[in-house]
Amino acid sequence: MHYKDLLLEIDSEQAFVTQTVSTPGKLYIAGEYAILEPGQAAILVALDAYLSCTVSLATDNLSGTLQSTTIQNEPFNYTRSTHNQPGLMPSAMWPRHWAYVLSAIETVERLLVELNLPLQNYHIQYETDLEAENGRKYGLGSSGAVTVSTIRALLRFYGYSANPLIIYKLAAIASLKVSTKGSFGDLAASAYGGWIYYQSPDRQWLAEQIKATPSLTQLLAKDWPQLAISHLTVPHSVDLVIGWTDAPASTDELVHRYQQHRDTESDLYQQFLANSQATVQQLAQDLENGDVALIQKGIAKARHLLRKMTRHWQLPLETNHLTQLIEIAQSYQYEAKSSGAGGGDCGIAIGSAYSNRQGLIDSWKVANIIPLPYQVSPPLTESK
Ligand code: PMV
Ligand code: MG
Repeated sequence: MHYKDLLLEIDSEQAFVTQTVSTPGKLYIAGEYAILEPGQAAILVALDAYLSCTVSLATDNLSGTLQSTTIQNEPFNYTRSTHNQPGLMPSAMWPRHWAYVLSAIETVERLLVELNLPLQNYHIQYETDLEAENGRKYGLGSSGAVTVSTIRALLRFYGYSANPLIIYKLAAIASLKVSTKGSFGDLAASAYGGWIYYQSPDRQWLAEQIKATPSLTQLLAKDWPQLAISHLTVPHSVDLVIGWTDAPASTDELVHRYQQHRDTESDLYQQFLANSQATVQQLAQDLENGDVALIQKGIAKARHLLRKMTRHWQLPLETNHLTQLIEIAQSYQYEAKSSGAGGGDCGIAIGSAYSNRQGLIDSWKVANIIPLPYQVSPPLTESK
């Protein structure tokens, strides 16, 4: 496999020039929890709420800095041992938040070393729309967006670009080193932009491949069992509104509880998976057809399945505030559900572009539900 089949050379003159890329955050529309099983499907959107990453050349010989204005103003310093050893060495213990960034950098650098490119040093800076001004996360997938943003920005800095599937695969490899809990749906949405149909890969297989395949190029070129990602073309007549209940929830914690409680052998669980799969497949078609009545049926079905499953295993998915968000939406002819792991965070409402969106937003505000002013982002392509 030649690297030219994986990466697109943008312009060799452009290498090591400061690069900024913006990567969209995400929200789940349907298929949550079930998507944690390989081959199950989910629908997500990428949003025009962005996390940007700027990479510039550091003139120091074997050191550089990483900085996120929203975490702490002070830059973090790193060093590296040689110009062909992937990965940065933090100067001190860094907060866990940086684990995704460090893993993303190491993964891209492994690829660059495989391509015989000498590594440079950087000043890397992050800015984000994915948090409120007080630093509280909206639950729009910041660890996924930070991973994808770092990968895209670094490749660009070295003069390359890659298609969304390669970006997703690099991000999945980098994320798996940090946590094995997620389905990586967030990475698919952030790498592809727009409306996404996502079928999760076998992460057990992936973990084994990472150990068994020394070459990253080879692993990137392989077909990954069960993985499927595609854009859905959804007409503008379908209106999506997002409400935030200002109760940040820990997806990792909720997923952990879910994995401890659910009984994978039970009929209930198997039915949940089968019903979720059927609902998501139908919803994907109805979204592309722009049939709002059918889409709303699908959203209601997806909500019902999640409620039944989480009630049985006593998981706090749909909080009272989220139920309120949903009921208000229904009174404006929208259909709504919790988004993602639940337990707070965001809910999504879908209606027709001719519904009373402003009325819904005003009523949410009265109920202390914060409407987030984001729309679905445009799809991302290789050269962007
Ligand atoms: O809470 P969010 O938006 O990060 O979504 C989590 C969705 C889960 O299916 C519960 C977990 C996952 O990684 O897919
Ligand atoms: Mg969440």
